[in-house]
Amino acid sequence: MEKLVLQDVVKVFKKNVGVLGINLEVREGEFFVILGPSGCGKTTSLRMIAGLETVDSGHIFLDEREITNFPPKLRNISMVFQNYALYPFMTVRENIIFPLKILKMPKSEMEEKTEQIAKTMGLSDLLDRRPGEISGGQKQRVALARALVREPSLFLMDEPLSNLDAKLRGHMRVELKRLQKEFNTTTVYVTHDQIEATTLADRACLMNNGRIVQMGNPNDLYDLPVDTFTATFLGDPAMNILPGELYVEKGNTYLKIEDYTIKMNDIKTEMEHPRDVKVGIRPEEVQLGDDGIPVELNLVQNLGKSIYEYFKTKNGETIIRQDVVNSRHVLGDRSMVSVDEKSLYLFETNTGGLIYRYGKKKYQEEYLQNAIN
Ligand SMILES: Nc1ncnc2c1ncn2[C@@H]1O[C@H](COP(=O)(O)OP(=O)(O)OP(=O)(O)O)[C@@H](O)[C@H]1O
Ligand SMILES: [Mg+2]
Repeated sequence: MEKLVLQDVVKVFKKNVGVLGINLEVREGEFFVILGPSGCGKTTSLRMIAGLETVDSGHIFLDEREITNFPPKLRNISMVFQNYALYPFMTVRENIIFPLKILKMPKSEMEEKTEQIAKTMGLSDLLDRRPGEISGGQKQRVALARALVREPSLFLMDEPLSNLDAKLRGHMRVELKRLQKEFNTTTVYVTHDQIEATTLADRACLMNNGRIVQMGNPNDLYDLPVDTFTATFLGDPAMNILPGELYVEKGNTYLKIEDYTIKMNDIKTEMEHPRDVKVGIRPEEVQLGDDGIPVELNLVQNLGKSIYEYFKTKNGETIIRQDVVNSRHVLGDRSMVSVDEKSLYLFETNTGGLIYRYGKKKYQEEYLQNAIN
């Protein structure tokens, strides 16, 4: 069942800035992530769902009821903010109980719920302290407890882990996922961090410049990006993108990258003129071989469990390759990057749109049409 639906929701702050028309459906019990770079409209989207920001046009439905113009307190939505927004002069207990007081719940019930959620969140020993007397991770858990205690219909989180150190962030990611499954509260989670998106999301959407670029489960976004934006946003280090040329000779299709040419057995096209394309290769798919694009190693980055090797091509393009730590390569080494049609992506040069991925005929047809136009 659809829990939350956004239809053509628009909020324009200035010309072309804000949220420029988004459509999405979040299912009951789902952990849905809105991912995107700074300024793409994530917080604005969340604030419109919560009712903290008015909507210029479009519709928002929660539990099949239109809530577009409802005041926040009538929406039964909890939100966790990036900076926690705890009340500094209240104890942890008073912070958690606050939303229940607003709901005018009987005292004994409020206290019971507070004790219960504090136990679940590992906060029982901290109930009498103030926010100034606990750590960042503990503050984070208080903010989550305060949002969860009233059993909202929908749970919104805006980059809740960004103030924590890397280790605690990793720990809280696991905790959040576990809690969300335990409470089964439909959750919309905003982040610019692709690791958070892929580890937490049942489904995710990627936003850019106020619009949704692509939606799906995180693996789909990674495996079949619709364009170079998605392709390079997901994956660290980002996918390598190189200029190439596609042409047909005697019925066979070839891809030329600098001085190297490979036959593309999977592409059958009548294309008359060569076309410029962008070639995408993920760092973990880059192989070295006897034949390929000539490159020289000019930087090595050590990550402990693996290394990234930065190669330069003759034309000055960079190709990053993920390798094992005990790689014998040294700076200045010359080698060849072999290219396999099964692991590469082809994108349109102008729009960046995906035109080829091995075994995905759908994109090839679109590409053929473009070639005729
Ligand atoms: N109150 C406002 N007045 C004018 N412009 C605004 C306002 N709030 C947001 N914007 C602009 O709208 C765009 C989207 O902002 P938003 O805060 O939603 O981005 P975001 O994706 O949450 O970014 P970040 O990751 O940096 O938090 C940005 O260009 C921002 O400058
Ligand atoms: Mg934001």
